[in-house]
Amino acid sequence: MDNSISFLHVLHIVAAMLMAWPYYALAAVNQRVKLGPPLGDRTDRYMENILKNRTTACFVFQFTILIGGFLLMWARVSDGQFAAGDFASNWVVIAKIVILLMMMAMLAWVRFVVQPEIDRLFGDFGELGDEAKARIGALRLRRKRMSTGCMFAAFTAAMLGVQTYASARFPAWLTALLLALIALWAFRSYRSETAYGWV
Ligand code: HEM
Repeated sequence: MDNSISFLHVLHIVAAMLMAWPYYALAAVNQRVKLGPPLGDRTDRYMENILKNRTTACFVFQFTILIGGFLLMWARVSDGQFAAGDFASNWVVIAKIVILLMMMAMLAWVRFVVQPEIDRLFGDFGELGDEAKARIGALRLRRKRMSTGCMFAAFTAAMLGVQTYASARFPAWLTALLLALIALWAFRSYRSETAYGWV
């Protein structure tokens, strides 16, 4: 059982690392903004194809974290290290489940509502009318904001993740400070290229 827990632990952490995609997507989107017009040429096709094709992968990583998280709890309980009730009353695990479900909902909204509309407006990536350009701009902005929210959620879950067990909990002020820093960094990534990493 020990090896299974180690395997699941690594899988959970690697999947958590892969949740960093919104940060890199924001970097790409900010570069596109910097490039300016025209809208609808091969640059946009390239960017849209990348963003679109990542959504399925993101769902896979999200389900890996969710199912893996439950398996981890099951393994710890089966091993006799914890009782099922310990997890049911563990606010960090509950918060992470809620955060992950919210991230899944945000991703589903982008994948099934926003992205098809952007694709429809781009058509075959040719000449675009003013109305289509304005609508694409508005939809892209919504998607960008959603991505920033996802980035904030993913890093918050990771920060909480290291506090999963009561013995590893931070003082409340430190959790609040880290939350504020994550929010600041997500906002910074939304607004700029973060050429120096943290700033
Ligand atoms: C985006 C969502 C999530 C992220 C980023 C995340 C991140 C992490 C991280 C970084 C750890 C490592 C803690 C350490 O080694 O000190 C961890 C542990 C853990 N996570 Fe998550 N997690 C997420 C969602 C979930 C969910 C949904 C569940 C439950 C269904 C869950 C259950 C657990 C458990 C049980 C552990 C303890 C691992 C162990 O017993 O060794 N996590 N998480």
